[in-house]
Amino acid sequence: MTPPDLPGGGADGLVAAAPQRSPGATTAHAPHATPGSLFDLAGRVALVTGAARGLGHAIAQALADHGARVVLADIDAAGASAAADALAERGARAVSLAADLGDRTSVARLAAQATAAFGRIDTLVCNAGIEGPVGPLGAATEADWRRVMDVNLGGALALCSAVIPPMAERGDGSVVLMSSIAGLRGNRAIGLYALSKAGLAQLARNLAVEWGPSGVRVNAVSPGLVRTPLAAGLLADQAFMARRLAATPLRRVGEPHEIAGVVVMLASRAGGFMHGHNLVVDGGTTIGDGS
Ligand SMILES: NC(=O)c1ccc[n+]([C@@H]2O[C@H](COP(=O)([O-])OP(=O)(O)OC[C@H]3O[C@@H](n4cnc5c(N)ncnc54)[C@H](O)[C@@H]3O)[C@@H](O)[C@H]2O)c1
Repeated sequence: MTPPDLPGGGADGLVAAAPQRSPGATTAHAPHATPGSLFDLAGRVALVTGAARGLGHAIAQALADHGARVVLADIDAAGASAAADALAERGARAVSLAADLGDRTSVARLAAQATAAFGRIDTLVCNAGIEGPVGPLGAATEADWRRVMDVNLGGALALCSAVIPPMAERGDGSVVLMSSIAGLRGNRAIGLYALSKAGLAQLARNLAVEWGPSGVRVNAVSPGLVRTPLAAGLLADQAFMARRLAATPLRRVGEPHEIAGVVVMLASRAGGFMHGHNLVVDGGTTIGDGS
């Protein structure tokens, strides 16, 4: 883990006074404000939750590869630390923090520590998520409900509530909420998960209308099946895979970098006019052949 750098003018949590945005106003990150690559994230700071492995790790790596300094947060402290070390070995500025997104005290601490690490947060990726119980909704317990909703949805809202206001003060920021195509269709197997993911897409729309006028963009990403530890059970289920691939025009599952690239776009000037959207990245699963 590299030591956090504490650039002047922000390490103490103070931010510049909020410019009141007027119609037609630009921000430091507006589409035509700086030359260079549309996907360049040099000088930007990103916080990625669930970054110890899977999509979160790939997203943190892609953001770092495009120049961002990255804070990797995860309930798996050792995993997050190893992931940050791996990024540092590639020359990135990366630190790790332990946090449980299902615990509001832990989320508040994460927001404060992540902001202190590099002086501010420009990009927030709420990626941490759990599958929850498998089976009919009626069999889910109160504890199942609370844990899935707290980790997947409540934790994301709490983190957004802490991280977005300073972005709004600066008139600039990008938030990505990791939803799922499970939130777009009925689901008999992982109903609580699907409910929480549908909630995240709506949360992106709610936050987008709330914070867009202050220059903070909020979007959701809904991956289809992607090769990560979370998906290992499904990937090993031959009957499920036969059904899924037959219904997926690209006839394959996704790879983590194919989700990470979309997040880089949303964090960068390339995605500067994307707002309140739920980007489906699924090889075509949800547009299936209707013939
Ligand atoms: N892999 C897929 O096919 C797929 C598809 C659609 C959506 N997603 C979503 O993408 C996100 C990442 O999925 P993944 O496949 O990389 O999963 P994963 O299980 O491989 O990784 C999830 C990471 O989140 C961390 N995490 C779990 N609970 C946490 C908590 N309470 N606090 C902090 N961190 C916690 C885990 O330790 C792990 O490092 C999830 O929100 C998932 O729902 C995944």
